[in-house]
Amino acid sequence: MATFTLPKNSTITKGKHFPAPAGATKVRSFKIYRWDPDSGENPRTDTYDIDLDACGPMVLDALIKIKNEVDSTLTFRRSCREGICGSCSMNIDGLNTLACLKPIEDVKAEVRIHPLPHMPVVKDLVPDLSQIYAQLRSVEPWLKADTPPPPDGERLQSKEERAKLDGLWECILCFCCSTACPSYWWNGDRYLGPAVLLQAYRWIADSRDEHTGDRLDALEDPFKLYRCHTIMNCTRTCPKGLNPAQAIGDIKKMLAERVV
Ligand code: SF4
Ligand code: SF4
Ligand code: FES
Repeated sequence: MATFTLPKNSTITKGKHFPAPAGATKVRSFKIYRWDPDSGENPRTDTYDIDLDACGPMVLDALIKIKNEVDSTLTFRRSCREGICGSCSMNIDGLNTLACLKPIEDVKAEVRIHPLPHMPVVKDLVPDLSQIYAQLRSVEPWLKADTPPPPDGERLQSKEERAKLDGLWECILCFCCSTACPSYWWNGDRYLGPAVLLQAYRWIADSRDEHTGDRLDALEDPFKLYRCHTIMNCTRTCPKGLNPAQAIGDIKKMLAERVV
């Protein structure tokens, strides 16, 4: 699918309304951002009234029900349905989160759903992640070691060394954090943002990696790292309960303490 950027002068217009089936008793409205670049029209908000008695408990269940039973043109990403793949990240009721982990009952009124903020939109709830994936590639998120592994086994770590990776390896690259970060909104072309910096730190902190110095050198840059102003939106929004702001702080500390 081709990638399009939302026109800067576009406004969101009133969209279509899909009422609940006759006889539905537990109805909830889902107001969903819609934009199809091929239509040439402005974005709009469509309203879908869903009978919660005939729907699963999570926001993703409602989206799948809408696509299967009400409006097959609604476009969104999803895969695992259990908070592992990171595909279904979006802005629900003003907060970036995973649709498959967000209970509908947690939203008290109508459920407002938008794509992740400040990203170009491909279509409807699908953001264009090309730039952030390129940034991820730039930190080389894989083990880099020049010495060969032991011939009879794997590269080993002590329990303490392994424990340093807890809180880092669990990241599912949903990018809820980066797209909640004001510094990333304004400088996303040069600032790496919390998700990518947490990934960078995951390899800096790995005792088996032999390129720690190179990795730190690559981050010592006024924009790539130091645009983080500890606003903490990233940590507040992470649906996996991780702390990217802490990881960024740890990288800064290592840079400040290292012997030049
Ligand atoms: S702590 Fe840093 S990375 Fe996190 S939201 Fe704030 S500026 Fe962004
Ligand atoms: S740190 Fe959390 S919010 Fe950020 S990409 Fe990883 S799992 Fe998603
Ligand atoms: S569908 Fe995989 S995280 Fe939601």
